[in-house]
Amino acid sequence: MRSNVVIPKSYTKPILDWLLDGDNLEKYLSLSPYHASGKVIARPNIDLRDQELVDGNFPFKDFFHLRDLILQQYDLPLDLPIDDNYGFMIVVSYKGHSTQLHKDPNRNREGPDASKHDTTNMPYFVTDKLHCRFNILIQSPEGGGNPIIDGVEFDIEENEPWMVQAGLYYHGSSVVEGDKIRILCSFGHYIPIELANERGWSSM
Ligand SMILES: [Fe+2]
Repeated sequence: MRSNVVIPKSYTKPILDWLLDGDNLEKYLSLSPYHASGKVIARPNIDLRDQELVDGNFPFKDFFHLRDLILQQYDLPLDLPIDDNYGFMIVVSYKGHSTQLHKDPNRNREGPDASKHDTTNMPYFVTDKLHCRFNILIQSPEGGGNPIIDGVEFDIEENEPWMVQAGLYYHGSSVVEGDKIRILCSFGHYIPIELANERGWSSM
């Protein structure tokens, strides 16, 4: 669901500047998930504020403020529980990369603390909460790299947030075109089912 607003660049520039400074991208975006085509690097669970990012002067204040601004666009409280699996993350995609269609679990299955994994129930069933992700491209590629949600591609603007019901709809992104890298900030939250129902977000 697009927000149809564009967040002013002044709010995203500190994050972009930090990412593009020196070798920060390669140094801190250390997760390279397997994808069929094109290179992608990511840093999940930024909300856990690990020491490496603290020591690296990651702009946590700007990053969290950006999340606040996006949640406000959807008239949501700022104290929503954070997704345990990937939390708040940054994903950088290079030319030729696309994200295959997938759903994200509504329960903790892949979080960094394996002792807290939820082995009960089907993780992709929507029961007491719905995993939604609040996303923004702080740098758009020259072409492509658009979100695809439930079979529909959205020609999203740079700095235009969107929301995806990640635990309900198959979603992915179209192929990145050109040499300019795609930089995504993705904030994952669990929406309590009562609130999701009220908004009409929990059923297809
Ligand atoms: Fe996803």
